[in-house]
Amino acid sequence: MVSPSALLAAVAPEFLSTEPQSPSAEQIELRDGLLDRPAHIDPKFLYDALGSSLFTAITQLPEYYPTRCEDEIFQRHGGDIARHIGPVQALVDLGAGDCVKAERLFSSLRPSHYVPVDISADYLEAAVRRLKLSYPDMRITSVGQDFSRELALPDDIPQQRRLFFYPGSSIGNLGPDDAFEMLRRIRAACPDGGLLVGVDRVKSRSVLEPAYDDALHLTAAFNLNLLRHVNAVLESDFEVDDWRHVAIFNSELSRVEMHLEAQRALRVSWPGGHREFKQGERIHTENSYKFTPQAFSDLLHSAGYHDIEHWSDTRGWFSVFSARA
Ligand code: AVJ
Repeated sequence: MVSPSALLAAVAPEFLSTEPQSPSAEQIELRDGLLDRPAHIDPKFLYDALGSSLFTAITQLPEYYPTRCEDEIFQRHGGDIARHIGPVQALVDLGAGDCVKAERLFSSLRPSHYVPVDISADYLEAAVRRLKLSYPDMRITSVGQDFSRELALPDDIPQQRRLFFYPGSSIGNLGPDDAFEMLRRIRAACPDGGLLVGVDRVKSRSVLEPAYDDALHLTAAFNLNLLRHVNAVLESDFEVDDWRHVAIFNSELSRVEMHLEAQRALRVSWPGGHREFKQGERIHTENSYKFTPQAFSDLLHSAGYHDIEHWSDTRGWFSVFSARA
């Protein structure tokens, strides 16, 4: 028997291209963002393997309160939250990272199938290998996916009683329209299921800004590392030393913004293009929206969710919402 590929090799003409591969979707996205005025780069580029590790370190900083607040909420109200959610078959963990947050829910929610989704596939694989040793009976399907584009889950994941878990206020990275779209997309993927989502709340600038500009400069490293990741993807020549981390609370738009600011006039080049930056010119790298509980409830409601409940930490800095799709 001649294999189909051998057959194809026999009939297909040889073809050798010396032209560079056409740019990938990621390269086009990066190039377009860099040429915009002001320039911007999507925050998903913060999460290469080093970026994911830096973020994990940030969650341990005294200034970075969201992770601790959310942990406190699950510790104090975990029973009520689990009762509100009801039975779960598949737990879909959006932006799973090291999977530790979802792991803490396993004992109360008892999902039969765990589906961690993360854009940083290598980081996720290492975490899942560890998890598999502790939970040999649970089905785990890890998905390396940029779910900000589309939510395409493998077919073998149970359709019934899915819970989408979107912790850490990652939804705050999206602007109002994109957050609405993301919530609609999640709802469409879990007809009889629900959503458990962490949301950071509006609070004083004196708490918000240090959380994104810490004394150890870990957040600065996290932000600057994005340039190394961009260099790898776009084949650009950013010099990390030329840039400075900036974090400010934009109270009108209710968001903390991260930027990278050029320290001198410079040019950044990549295959087929370049951009000049003046000294002090910025690249916008992240928004982290802060909500009032009312505003987030309204958003869930407008995206079609019902039975909306939320729980907060004692200081009222962070909230966890549970809603039925
Ligand atoms: C992971 C998106 C929730 O916005 O607080 C941490 C990312 N950026 N420090 C956030 C982040 C700067 C974080 N999220």
